[in-house]
Amino acid sequence: MGSGIPLFPEQASNLAPEVDNLYFFVTAVTAFFALIVVVAVIVFAIKYRDPTGEKVGAPITGSIPLELGWSIIPFFISMAIFAWATIVFFHLVRAPDQTLDVYSTGKRWMWRFQHIDGQSEINQLHVPLGRPVRVVFTSEDVLHSLYIPAFRVKADAIPGRYSSVWFTPTRVGEYHLFCAEYCGTKHSGMIGSVVVMEPNDYQAWLSGGGSGMSMAARGEQLFQQLGCVGCHLNDGSGRGPSLVGKYGAQEMLANGAAVTVDDTYIRESILTPQMKLVAGYGPVMPTFQGLVNEQGLMSLIEFIKSLPAASGPRPAAAQASAAAAAPGAAPAPGGPR
Ligand code: CUA
Repeated sequence: MGSGIPLFPEQASNLAPEVDNLYFFVTAVTAFFALIVVVAVIVFAIKYRDPTGEKVGAPITGSIPLELGWSIIPFFISMAIFAWATIVFFHLVRAPDQTLDVYSTGKRWMWRFQHIDGQSEINQLHVPLGRPVRVVFTSEDVLHSLYIPAFRVKADAIPGRYSSVWFTPTRVGEYHLFCAEYCGTKHSGMIGSVVVMEPNDYQAWLSGGGSGMSMAARGEQLFQQLGCVGCHLNDGSGRGPSLVGKYGAQEMLANGAAVTVDDTYIRESILTPQMKLVAGYGPVMPTFQGLVNEQGLMSLIEFIKSLPAASGPRPAAAQASAAAAAPGAAPAPGGPR
């Protein structure tokens, strides 16, 4: 609907028409009633004009039907907007189960994007057409906000926390990317572009360039370098809990509460390990604050994500690869992970 109106940005994602239709509806309802009021004012001003300036209006004591009418009709209209907006909102914030994940960090004054295959880019984001993409991001310093108008997505980048937006690009092209939260002198320069490519072109782009090491492989490397591997044994016999198959699962905490093992919980457990102790384990883990940066944290999360789901026990193999992988660049022995 909005695409023909130059006031609207292009519609380049699956979410764009949904947002625009709702916005257009709200605008149309507002315009309709504004018009009625304006027309009534003009018509009555002309019709009841009193050239003598001496007539006095008839006393009006109220009208129950009128009052009911102008209460009930707006009630239903606003409830309809509320329900519609709620549906759109849930769609906006709930990513589908299968998404192509890209990590990002905002800092003064640029956006860094990290693809799980290993490529990283600054102020540019390449995504494939027709595939749901989820961008998980945080800030390294102050509040920023990732805004892609053509996709109708925007979310704050908050230090110490992960935010995400998701979208399915529906049109090939290059679109603006903004920081939408004032973050200092060069806030207005914290911009970039999203490049939507045909899936084949995207694959070609992915395989060209890049470090050759996936985020999960880099995460695995960090896992060894930082010594995590010494305690988080895969069979659960170590001083820390096994991380195999834990991503997305529920974990019981020492204080009796349960927590979902998600990006934010993993990050928190690395930086402030004592905060939410897993039941059955002592408070022995040191903080890794200052030892691992945002990109490292994201790589560690990707590594933990890549560990097979709970049903697939392969402790011996994983342990062996852990010992072998440290010096060489060999990512992971034997493809399936
Ligand atoms: Cu970052 Cu404004």
